[in-house]
Amino acid sequence: MKGLMSGIDAARDRIRSEFPALSRLHGDLPYSYLDGPGGTQVPRRTIDAIARYLERSNANHEGAFETSRESDEILARAHDAAADYLGAGSASEVAFGQNMTTITFAVSRAIGRTLHAGDEIVVTRLDHDANVAPWLALQEERGVAIRWVEIRQEDCTLDLDGLEAVLGPRTRVVAVGLASNAVGTVNPIPRIVEMAHAAGAMTYVDAVHAAPHMPIDVTALDTDFLVCSPYKFFGPHLGLLYGKRERLEQIASYKVRPAPDDAPGKWETGTLPGESIAGLLGTFDYLEWLGRVPGGAGDGAKRREAFAAAMTAIRASERGLALTALETMSRIPGLHLRGILDPARFDERVPTFAFTLDGHSPREVAEKLGERGIAVWDGDYYAYELIRAMGLAETGGMVRVGLAHYNTPEEIERLGRALREIAAGN
Ligand SMILES: Cc1ncc(COP(=O)(O)O)c(C=O)c1O
Repeated sequence: MKGLMSGIDAARDRIRSEFPALSRLHGDLPYSYLDGPGGTQVPRRTIDAIARYLERSNANHEGAFETSRESDEILARAHDAAADYLGAGSASEVAFGQNMTTITFAVSRAIGRTLHAGDEIVVTRLDHDANVAPWLALQEERGVAIRWVEIRQEDCTLDLDGLEAVLGPRTRVVAVGLASNAVGTVNPIPRIVEMAHAAGAMTYVDAVHAAPHMPIDVTALDTDFLVCSPYKFFGPHLGLLYGKRERLEQIASYKVRPAPDDAPGKWETGTLPGESIAGLLGTFDYLEWLGRVPGGAGDGAKRREAFAAAMTAIRASERGLALTALETMSRIPGLHLRGILDPARFDERVPTFAFTLDGHSPREVAEKLGERGIAVWDGDYYAYELIRAMGLAETGGMVRVGLAHYNTPEEIERLGRALREIAAGN
């Protein structure tokens, strides 16, 4: 395989061959998965690891027998690998859960127990509702006041002056996304964390949409919490929580009495989905492989460095795909893209594009693309506040095209041809 830093593009066929779903055909053409923001496809290694777990090590936790020990070892290895993937200092700082939404309700309610009427939580109009609604619930339950950060309509970026204005001595939590699942905006998290910490608040970062597109380093970000979902970054359906050790230890989780009192066990309610966690090890295997090929981190590098090399190469390659997508979609008559559209600012976005098409509802466009074997999303994709702030809720939201590193320029060309036909009424 060619040098990775310059060569995900050159190696795309090899990469695609790692993902069995990508060989699915629609007529003569490969089925086109542009629905990554709703869930990515998985490598063969993930599928094999799930099957292997169910065939050989399918047992509950802490039994006095071999398969239980094997299952526990898989869980321990997955915590280690997840800590490496996120840049956490220790495996005890990462916990698995059903999905990001369920984890966020659990953490927000646990934090809520420490809050008092008049305490404040900051949320944003750009976030997926899974990082908004759990905090809004505390308004009712604890008398907490919610403060909003608005977006700049012209490029769908957060108004950081607005953030500065709402931060105050009663701010307890700032809940913010790393990347928008609707328009792809990447928020300046280091700066936001600094601002929140200066006000004495904790940060809760939703990295669900960012995780398939860029390296994440929770230690460098210095965030108190960060959540993501392996099924959005080439893994099985699962949620993943990072919390600074002192936060995870200090805050009392909702748990059954026999469950561990320390992290991460106190945050992992009930029996974990062992097969999904085993599958995630397959995904990490894939990402490590991607990061070690020539031009990447190399054989001698630590796993964390290999992950970072893989994600850095993905980020670089996706920038090219994003440019092709922008050029292609900008040429479609009546198509209106939202978000950051200046290529010089593409390091402030990931390759997720949302648009409307004159004379066609987003659903109709998605259906017509679906008929042509192109999977895209339509509606609000739970970016509930953003779609309302843009005045698009009544008209079906927007169409969303989400690219991943396994997508190709040919797929984008095909999307362009299909959109041109749809715009012309076909
Ligand atoms: C940015 C973002 N946050 C949160 C979620 C919710 O994730 P989960 O399905 O793991 O609860 C999603 C899912 O679409 C998302 O895109």
